[in-house]
Amino acid sequence: MTLNRPRIKVSGLTKIFADKADAALSLLKAGQSRAEIQKATGAVVGLQDVSFDIAEGEILVVMGLSGSGKSTCLRCINRLIEPTAGSVFVDDVDVTKLSERELMEFRRTRFGMVFQQFALFPHRTIVKNVEYGLEIQGVPAAARHERAMTALETVGLKGWDQHYPSQLSGGMQQRAGLARALALDPDVLLMDEAFSALDPLIRRDMQQELVALQKRLKKTIVFVSHDLDEAIALGGRIVLMKDGRVVQQGTAADFLANPADDYVRRFVEHIDVLGVVTAGDAMRAPAAVKPWHATAAEALASLTQSGEPVMTVVCQDGRFQGTVDADTLKAAGDTELRLLLSDTQACVPTSATLNETVAKLATGRGEIAVIDADRSLRGVIANADLVATLARRHSQPVH
Ligand SMILES: Nc1ncnc2c1ncn2[C@@H]1O[C@H](COP(=O)(O)OP(=O)(O)OP(=O)(O)O)[C@@H](O)[C@H]1O
Ligand SMILES: [Mg+2]
Repeated sequence: MTLNRPRIKVSGLTKIFADKADAALSLLKAGQSRAEIQKATGAVVGLQDVSFDIAEGEILVVMGLSGSGKSTCLRCINRLIEPTAGSVFVDDVDVTKLSERELMEFRRTRFGMVFQQFALFPHRTIVKNVEYGLEIQGVPAAARHERAMTALETVGLKGWDQHYPSQLSGGMQQRAGLARALALDPDVLLMDEAFSALDPLIRRDMQQELVALQKRLKKTIVFVSHDLDEAIALGGRIVLMKDGRVVQQGTAADFLANPADDYVRRFVEHIDVLGVVTAGDAMRAPAAVKPWHATAAEALASLTQSGEPVMTVVCQDGRFQGTVDADTLKAAGDTELRLLLSDTQACVPTSATLNETVAKLATGRGEIAVIDADRSLRGVIANADLVATLARRHSQPVH
């Protein structure tokens, strides 16, 4: 996955919950554990030296078990919780250095927050709830009404503006909560377990809609969740936390392929491998590739030597053209490969999941090409590679 320039840069973020954090911070720097520090000083280490980048237009999921520091981390980003040490850059601004007044302004204009509990005002209509932030900003009535109505339409609540929160389902109330954040048009959305209170089916809908919305609106989103399935559904990178520290960051497929430790391994134990690992993860370099002006005889010699089930054919600039099987080659003598292509569709993009790859392999001749958006050949996957990928996964010991 290519990252755009970082939008948010969190560096060495540390939070100690204590009246006097200095003593605890010294102990932390001296290498004492969280438990030792709590015992010695009563201070709770909420976050310890947390660093990660978030690219523009990315959904980053901060994940971990209860108490691992997810909410603390999210709230330190906009200083709803004051960090003890470290910095948070949003573009060129270090949020930790802003004065109280600057911070208020920055929060109002740049950050939107959505929480697990929707926190709508019960005595205000939905549109008045969505207008609330704009009202605080002093936006004139007509303009804020218009922006609130647009935000409601964006989240699929058109026609519900005059209702009261109690007249809406949980899912609809959370949509209203999202609309309230979107009405302010923030660059960065901070979402803390925003969908955790919803029924599973509605939750899945909301996850899909958030992904679609983010593609359209290009917001940068930090999403806190304790649910791996949710992190995978949101599709981006994951920062996995434990005891206030980052254990590993990357995609779910990275966690599967190279777990940093047993904790990560256990976290991804029940993951749906076929839905997470991509063709790009499972491919290997092809042993039998020929340009399309090569002859069948040349290709047959090379194919026999390689042990591949089919010959992969590319044009001069390396773009995938199709495959040719051995039987076709045997009967074709000096004919050029471009006239012999048996299957021009035997390919998947690098981003295809193994589920999609399996489906493609099942219809072909035992091997398919893995290609870029411009059809450049990146690698191949044969039936045997797929089996090997799955076998590797299951042979990893879990202690
Ligand atoms: N105000 C506070 N004072 C003291 N300790 C706190 C405070 N807020 C959080 N903590 C502690 O910091 C640690 C991290 O808490 P945090 O709320 O960030 O966890 P979380 O990962 O969001 O958990 P959950 O999934 O339950 O929401 C916990 O040990 C918690 O007890
Ligand atoms: Mg939390």
